[in-house]
Amino acid sequence: MRIAIGADHGGFHLKTEIADFLKKSGHDVADLGAHSEEPSDYPDFARAVAKTLRAGKADRGILICGSGVGASVAANKFHGIRAAVCHDTFSARQGVEDDDMNVLCLGARIIGPELARELVRTFLAALFSGEERHRRRLAKVAAIEQEQR
Ligand code: RB5
Repeated sequence: MRIAIGADHGGFHLKTEIADFLKKSGHDVADLGAHSEEPSDYPDFARAVAKTLRAGKADRGILICGSGVGASVAANKFHGIRAAVCHDTFSARQGVEDDDMNVLCLGARIIGPELARELVRTFLAALFSGEERHRRRLAKVAAIEQEQR
């Protein structure tokens, strides 16, 4: 799978671990920074990951900051991005199956690398169910986006 990954300074180290894990698992990884632990701003990486997805250059995105919250708030400002912080595997799976989540956000100051890897594995293995009730709800989410244009 083509995966775009980004993190601010708070998520830099976990991003490096997750990017290595993804590459070893055979995924095509676009690491969009940060490339050091110097202080940086999570909206810049949310923008980079969101734009890569919107351009069709990646299938899924992963964003990491200290809590995961700032990254998800910023990413969800982009039309077509459905991002959420998931620190449990139920949400990481169901967020895709029901809500077609396309960006997983993680908080490097909250969870460790083992759980992060498990969440990423779960997120990437899940597929949108396509069930009518979920399509109907997603159409309403898309309508909210259109109201903002
Ligand atoms: C940066 O200090 C921190 O605010 C950021 O990584 C993130 O936790 C924001 O939600």
